[in-house]
Amino acid sequence: MNRDDFPLLKQDIIYLDNSATSLKPQTVIDKMNDYYTNYSANAHRGDYDLSFKVDKEYEETRELVKNFINAQHLEEIIFTSGATESLNMIINGFFANYLEANDEVLITTSEHASNILPWFNLVSELGIKVKYIPLDSNYYVTLDNVKKSITPHTKVISIAGITNVIGDIRPIKEITKLAHENNIFVVIDGAQMVPHVPIDVTDNDIDFLAFSGHKMLGPTGIGVLYGKIELLEHLKPQKLGGGMNESFDSPEEVYLKPLPTRLEAGTPNIAGVIGLGEAIKYLNNLGFAKISSQEHALRKYLLDKLLPLKHIDIINIESDSAIIAFNVNNIFSQDVAYYLNKYNICVRAGNHCAKILKSSVGVTNTVRISLYFYNTFEEIDNLVELLSDYDKIVKEMI
Ligand code: ALA
Repeated sequence: MNRDDFPLLKQDIIYLDNSATSLKPQTVIDKMNDYYTNYSANAHRGDYDLSFKVDKEYEETRELVKNFINAQHLEEIIFTSGATESLNMIINGFFANYLEANDEVLITTSEHASNILPWFNLVSELGIKVKYIPLDSNYYVTLDNVKKSITPHTKVISIAGITNVIGDIRPIKEITKLAHENNIFVVIDGAQMVPHVPIDVTDNDIDFLAFSGHKMLGPTGIGVLYGKIELLEHLKPQKLGGGMNESFDSPEEVYLKPLPTRLEAGTPNIAGVIGLGEAIKYLNNLGFAKISSQEHALRKYLLDKLLPLKHIDIINIESDSAIIAFNVNNIFSQDVAYYLNKYNICVRAGNHCAKILKSSVGVTNTVRISLYFYNTFEEIDNLVELLSDYDKIVKEMI
């Protein structure tokens, strides 16, 4: 589907590592080249036509993002370098000033490092407690387990919308409803979700959402922090500098600009923002219905072919998204990836930055196939043919 739009697919390569980063369509590349070639002025600083064009493109992307996630206000969309920076800003800029010793934050063992380490930091800095919502036998979060995990000290639930190894889709709307009934904030790490399913921050009543551009056809180094406006007003800027201040005559007289500029200090990643806008246009034109049906069909096709293979142990048979994590009997996951690489197949192997997932799943490393809409059944046939022959893997893995 739409493969001609992706220049990298003209190479003799099977790219199955879309959870790490997606490929970029030519329109996104052209849009960024156009900025660098034809109007590469700074944003929000120049009183001349080139700069006005930059401001227009930059702010139009903010509008695109707002509509893409159905936020209520443009001021709720902050451009960051990616989901990691967004989560760090939310945790260090808002929650570090709100939480106190013994307050509890609920996460899960299947979170990515970016939604764990900043919280761990607050454990040592503030004495908060990080607790884990138990996962069910398929490594899913159930509403019942969330309910059981809530105590009078719970202040935040911070979870991925879709996790990057198990690929389970979390019941966000039910969780935010339950959380808000108990005066608990909800932070959603949307890095793996936003590229694959429509997300409506208003309908789901999400307090904070973080996501990256590069996993959704956009450039690297650009991401989004969404926060409800009344919460963002209390998010202390982690970066101070040009563009975000009104005036500073002395340390006592520092006045900052209103949202969203207040949280975007310094020259922003202008090409990244403009490229992200083009990626969103691409996704809007294609539509999530098509993306989703192709991903589901590919996943089912792959699963049906892998399940009969006795030497393959699939970790997330029940998952709802386009991620399949598995191991080949007695073979280290990175050796499997290396073997596939000999045939120009790109997969990720290892712990995938989900380093405490092992306590729930029982294995530290896996091979991960993560699909996107441009993958094909033929690519899966090639992959499965290589994985079917255990002796060949053993012989060729090193
Ligand atoms: N978080 C990204 C992944 O899952 C990098 O591969």
